[in-house]
Amino acid sequence: MGHGITEVIAIAGYEVIMRDVERQFIEDGYDSIEWSLEKLFEKDIIDEAPDNVLSRIDIEVELETAVANADLVIEAAPEQMDLKKEIFSDLDAFAPEHAILASNTSSLSITEIASATNRPEQVVGMHFFNPPVKMDLVEVIYGSETTDETANTASEFVESIDKTPIYVRKDVNGFVVNSVLGPFGDEAGWMVSEGRYEIPEIDAAMVHQRHYPMGPFELGDLTGIDVGYHIRKEAGKPIPPILEEKVEAEELGRKTGRGYYDYETGDGPDYESGQGEGVDTLRIEARIINEAAKLIGNDVATAEAIDTGLRLGAGFPEGPCRRADKIGLDTVLEKLESLYEEYREERYEPADHLRHLVESGQTGEDAGAGFYEYSDGAKRDYTTLKHTVESGLLEIKLDRPERLNALNEDLMNEIVHLLENVNLDEVWAVTFEGAGDRAFCAGADISGFSGAAPHEKEVTQMFTTVAEFPRPVLAKIDGYCLGGGLELALACDLRIATEAAEFGFPEINLGLLPGGGGTQRVIRMLSEARAKELVFRGNRIDAETAELWGLINRAVPRAKFEETVEAFIDDLVTGPPIALRKAKQVMNKGRDQDLDAGLEMEAQAFGLLLGTEDTSEGTAAFAEDRDPKFRGE
Ligand code: COA
Repeated sequence: MGHGITEVIAIAGYEVIMRDVERQFIEDGYDSIEWSLEKLFEKDIIDEAPDNVLSRIDIEVELETAVANADLVIEAAPEQMDLKKEIFSDLDAFAPEHAILASNTSSLSITEIASATNRPEQVVGMHFFNPPVKMDLVEVIYGSETTDETANTASEFVESIDKTPIYVRKDVNGFVVNSVLGPFGDEAGWMVSEGRYEIPEIDAAMVHQRHYPMGPFELGDLTGIDVGYHIRKEAGKPIPPILEEKVEAEELGRKTGRGYYDYETGDGPDYESGQGEGVDTLRIEARIINEAAKLIGNDVATAEAIDTGLRLGAGFPEGPCRRADKIGLDTVLEKLESLYEEYREERYEPADHLRHLVESGQTGEDAGAGFYEYSDGAKRDYTTLKHTVESGLLEIKLDRPERLNALNEDLMNEIVHLLENVNLDEVWAVTFEGAGDRAFCAGADISGFSGAAPHEKEVTQMFTTVAEFPRPVLAKIDGYCLGGGLELALACDLRIATEAAEFGFPEINLGLLPGGGGTQRVIRMLSEARAKELVFRGNRIDAETAELWGLINRAVPRAKFEETVEAFIDDLVTGPPIALRKAKQVMNKGRDQDLDAGLEMEAQAFGLLLGTEDTSEGTAAFAEDRDPKFRGE
């Protein structure tokens, strides 16, 4: 992973020295970086020419020279404690006093690694996921002596290279992601070993009913069955017999051509959607949730950190804590209790924190609180979006980068909840943007489509709430803006995009049509010919074309994006709030009326505005040749 980590750090603009014990290893790593940068550049994922990025990478064999001027060292040596300790002892001797020493270990104790140095307070875990260029997550792990200052610096560094950090506040085995992911394969293994289900049945159920990206056995084959086996063995945990059998038979997964599935004579995973009927998926999910509850109860991580970790690091469709709140924590607890009753195995023993939540009535979303708060008022947690209010601007970030910010039910509900509960005295304008650097939003979440009955799809409320929000709303679009994402952008009043943005309605390719107001808004906005071209053909258009067609206000180079948005926002937040609200209302409503009715609405609004203090202030400021100060009165 060393070269992958080097690559992401160099892309972010830092000078990096890549070091390994032999020149050949480093040269191989360098070649991999070169190849990968070319690919990223070709796909428009990076703007900078590969040679420029490469110019920030130096290579070195001598450890002493390599780290002599380092501010941060990230070690990614093989996972052997003795080796790591030796390296850290050398790093301590050679690196500057202020340098932070980080380990990319995924399984070893940070505390023990740090004990090889005289600066354990400056040693921290920085666990990247493979491959670092693609995976957004980094676990920032405290050893027992790590200071907050060190962990915070590591976390800020992770953010500065466009990755998402989560804090792992104690040095527990498996950290957050692997601990919580463990039961996914483990419990599935027990269920098959007991003869209750066939392997494809469980994989089919987890993928097609519960929407995990892969089934537990399929995942085991990919990562190597022996890997999971050794981790359990070292942790002294009982091992499901099916795992043991596979390891004994040396059927270790894809790498040996055979594991739970056959990759040599067969086509690998061959389960089908209907096969998972009746599988007790709660048994697996209850154990995952229990693991999460243990981490929270032991102050290792917050529910939010766990959910972010599992979404970004393991591709979970939603975090286990959020899912638990939907299932009901009482249901989860009951399941664990009945399993414990039946098997008397430690793995089913409910976590104290889970019991505590259930006993205090915090049983999940229906009860108004569980791992998260769901009150009707302003105080509630959001799990799929981030938002801030500052200087009159509400910034909303769609926060599902691992799904290119696709709109699922939670995200749409949370947008509605936020807009309905925000304090209008503090918000004069709103922006929407997408997390990550690839997409504004790639549409409705397709993984939720299968099995939805036609009449159940009620998606328009969110788009209407945005369109009718009594403040100007601007979409900041970088990357893909597709399907429901484009519909969201069209429900906004203004749209500014980078030249890397792409627009389209791909729904027709799925046998659907835009269902969030897209057909209606686009035909009112563009010529009929262009609107129908977008909807009928399902092709994407680039930002320049979108500007030419009148779909967006501006297409600008990435370097000018923020400043262009700021100029717009500046006018909106300092503008007269009532006049802006009325203008939005009469323009939106008037569009669908005949001219006389529209003119009538406009005249009424005009008359109303004449009596406002804002109008007096506007005219006074004009006469006095100064900037007006509107107060929305
Ligand atoms: N719903 C759910 N997940 C989506 C998604 C959507 N609308 N769009 C993208 N994703 C997920 C992908 O499944 C993938 O997840 P994975 O890494 O677990 O496999 C991840 O986001 C990244 O997308 P990927 O397809 O690997 O990126 P790409 O650069 O190859 O392609 C797109 C990008 C946008 C062209 C492609 O993802 C796409 O066509 N998405 C669907 C768009 C669409 O039809 N939207 C309308 C829905 S009504």
